Amino acid sequence: MPAVVVVGAQWGDEGKGKVVDLFTQHADIVVRYQGGNNAGHTLVVDGHKTVLHLIPSGVLHPGKVCVIGNGVVVDPAVLLSEIDELRQRGFLREDSLLKISDRANVIMPYHRAIDVARERLRGEGRIGTTGRGIGPTYEDKMARIGIRFADFLDDTTFSDALQRTLKEKNAYLRSMLKEKALDFDAIHSEYRGYRARLAPYVTDTTTYLHNALRQSQRVLLEGAQGTMLDVDHGTYPFVTSSNTAAGGACTGTGIAPRDLSAVIGIVKAYTTRVGSGPFPTELTDAVGEKLRQDGDEFGATTGRPRRCGWFDAVVVRNAVRLNGMSGLALTKLDVLTGFETIRICTAYEFAGRRVQDFPASNSVLNGLTPVYEDWPGWHEPLQGARSLADLPANARAYVRRLEEVTETPMIMVSVGAGRNQTILLRNPFE
Ligand code: GDP
Ligand code: IMO
Ligand code: MG
Repeated sequence: MPAVVVVGAQWGDEGKGKVVDLFTQHADIVVRYQGGNNAGHTLVVDGHKTVLHLIPSGVLHPGKVCVIGNGVVVDPAVLLSEIDELRQRGFLREDSLLKISDRANVIMPYHRAIDVARERLRGEGRIGTTGRGIGPTYEDKMARIGIRFADFLDDTTFSDALQRTLKEKNAYLRSMLKEKALDFDAIHSEYRGYRARLAPYVTDTTTYLHNALRQSQRVLLEGAQGTMLDVDHGTYPFVTSSNTAAGGACTGTGIAPRDLSAVIGIVKAYTTRVGSGPFPTELTDAVGEKLRQDGDEFGATTGRPRRCGWFDAVVVRNAVRLNGMSGLALTKLDVLTGFETIRICTAYEFAGRRVQDFPASNSVLNGLTPVYEDWPGWHEPLQGARSLADLPANARAYVRRLEEVTETPMIMVSVGAGRNQTILLRNPFE
């Protein structure tokens, strides 16, 4: 029963979209299991760029089924505009190619309003959220006042839930956040329109996936964000509100742990992060700026410049263990062309002591120094490489060293944004 999970090993934007699109050739079904439209996954096929926020990155392969699992939080307006755009381009021709879990929670206008207002009030201490209402929606899910698609589809259940919840949210918006109250009728009629259009896709995706696995179909599980943004294991509180690590693939789909066959980690050849929070190898100098420009490191969802720094092996080793990654897909190696020296952080130093594992304490994180080893760079462009032998010796040595310091083999190396700009070393399903 082959189910392969793809997880970001750093702070998101590692290139999961490109890798999932590429791996979809070996899969029958592609599933998102957590997060929402805080994600921005970029696919470049035949020079055409597609940015997906909610629909799984397998959608550009005709005939493959895309599933939005129960662990995802869904903004109906965003999903509908994504469906419309893809349909116009000739994808998702049949309704049966997209399935939305009847247990997935719906993002409501008050979730977005609360997210944005709280960030504004936090000022300098803000998390730097995407403002899409992700955190408040997961809060309501855990507080057991969320609205799931199954509830949304039934007008009486939906109206009752909205009435009850809106009273509480409006009181909070007005008195605590100094925002305007939201209007029941406006939300109710807006969401009625969404319901009519989304109903054909809503189904029991857990049972669907169980049956598919029983019939030996190949399921690819697409993580959003990255391990360091996991609400339990990341740089709390500067994290997202879901379990981004591989365990989330089980809770977010209903697939049992024993049915996962492999976990593949996606790693950028350096490190980036959007939003606030600790980032031990961050470079705020010209080198960081060169990484940002050469890597076009601007957010796919919010357009914000990404913070950039050298590869952090402490972070990736931690991700390998947390997720049980058996292989890594290395992306954006081409961006490192032109650097005289490339650095790898292998440990940290804090108060005169070596730190090998990622600390929980933010004051420790803010006070530590990365321990680097230096590797010679290369000047040749890499975009044309299709096998490891095509890479300059120094680039090959860098890849080998990353395998050593992360204690994990590479199963692919990406040398450009395009689907074909890839050195594929192993089929993740085999
Ligand atoms: P995701 O959120 O993990 O799917 O990653 P994003 O799409 O947010 O950001 C990754 C960016 O890098 C996108 O613009 C991709 O098109 C691009 N990209 C992916 N792989 C490569 C690569 O190997 N080289 C280069 N230069 N760009 C890449
Ligand atoms: P993909 O799937 C990078 C970050 C935000 C912020 C924190 C919390 O494209 O890799 P949220 O809106 O989730 O409450 O914001 O998490 N963040 C991401 N950073 N890539 C993402 O997704 C992200 N999704 C959320 O910038 O720091
Ligand atoms: Mg992204």
